[in-house]
Amino acid sequence: MAALLDIRDLRIQLGGRALVDGVDITVAPGEVVGLAGESGSGKTLTALTSLGFVPDHATVSGVVDFDGRDVLALSKRELKALRGDRVAMVFQDPMTALHPMLTIERQLTEHQRVHGTMSRRQARDRAIELLDRVRIPDPKTAITSYPHRFSGGMRQRIAIASALACEPELLIADEVTTALDVTVQAGILNLLQSLRVELGMAMLFITHDLAVMNVVSDRLYIMRSGKVVESGPSRDVLADPQHEYTRALVDALPDTEVAK
Ligand SMILES: Nc1ncnc2c1ncn2[C@@H]1O[C@H](COP(=O)(O)OP(=O)(O)OP(=O)(O)O)[C@@H](O)[C@H]1O
Ligand SMILES: [Mg+2]
Repeated sequence: MAALLDIRDLRIQLGGRALVDGVDITVAPGEVVGLAGESGSGKTLTALTSLGFVPDHATVSGVVDFDGRDVLALSKRELKALRGDRVAMVFQDPMTALHPMLTIERQLTEHQRVHGTMSRRQARDRAIELLDRVRIPDPKTAITSYPHRFSGGMRQRIAIASALACEPELLIADEVTTALDVTVQAGILNLLQSLRVELGMAMLFITHDLAVMNVVSDRLYIMRSGKVVESGPSRDVLADPQHEYTRALVDALPDTEVAK
């Protein structure tokens, strides 16, 4: 099957430093791919290129092919269409992802206001449906509230709902569970798993936590210092890590996690 996202020999240089140094990553339609690795290894920078974001003043080379087109060569207008419609990203901190002064309804209908032709009423029904989809209780009341009323885990669900508004073919989840405690984490992971099945969307799932990765992803890539040092089906990589760095990560996991 042709890849939905195909990153080839991506290099991002800034001030003489190679922040991303020849990365190849593919995501097939509907596939969940994990990206793990130590802090500063280039995971977020790599993922952001799928939306056409690159750091100011950086020199970028390589190809970021999304469904047959090089994202790095798109015009501003084409990028806007891509971000609004086909690729969405959820970030680590659920508070910064939501605007504190706007109601949940306003934040979830933003997409329709910018891109769509829905009436206010239709957009509102859609917002309620999205909240329901991410298992927010009493969505009709929830849309009239402001973010501070919700717990961290709830806010992360709302941020996910907002990313789902455009029905993306690819959802990039960047450390979405890192800031949450373990039981809330498990809830968000379950949610992402079932959304994947319900919506058939592909996901690029970034985390430094291999235990989380083991649960969610079909295949994974391990990055270190701007390079992919190991990749393969998650089960294989975790059962028999080849690279010394991956081995150290796997050794650090509690036994029960690897045995699954
Ligand atoms: N906008 C930017 N301008 C300059 N340097 C940057 C920028 N964004 C990231 N970097 C640098 O690029 C390197 C890779 O950063 P990146 O955010 O991709 O790491 P990461 O693997 O996502 O780390 P973490 O796990 O901490 O989120 C780091 O050294 C970082 O300091
Ligand atoms: Mg990051």
